[in-house]
Amino acid sequence: MPYVTFLPMEQTVEVEEGTTLLEAAHLYDIPLEGACEGSLACATCHVIVAAEWFDKLGEMTEEEEDLLDMAFGLTATSRLGCQIVMTDALDGLRVTVPEYSVNMKVDKKDKK
Ligand code: FES
Repeated sequence: MPYVTFLPMEQTVEVEEGTTLLEAAHLYDIPLEGACEGSLACATCHVIVAAEWFDKLGEMTEEEEDLLDMAFGLTATSRLGCQIVMTDALDGLRVTVPEYSVNMKVDKKDKK
């Protein structure tokens, strides 16, 4: 099974092939929000892919590109975590959860 490392927490997790990064994050309690649960209706699953991995991911759909335009802190290697599906070819992938995403999740927990 492939591994993916989430930064800045440096948490490396093993996931089944076919798992999205959003699902992987939620499985391991990594603070990536994903408000629309992967239905391409938000940009809260924004991750920044390590440059060396970016070209190994599939092409973005137009829908993903449009949503990413709304993401705060957009970078040249930004993607939506719910659209990245793990495969063995992505074993070792490294992505950063933008700081604002972490804060959003923490804020939510504080309200409970
Ligand atoms: S979780 Fe909403 S677009 Fe990814």
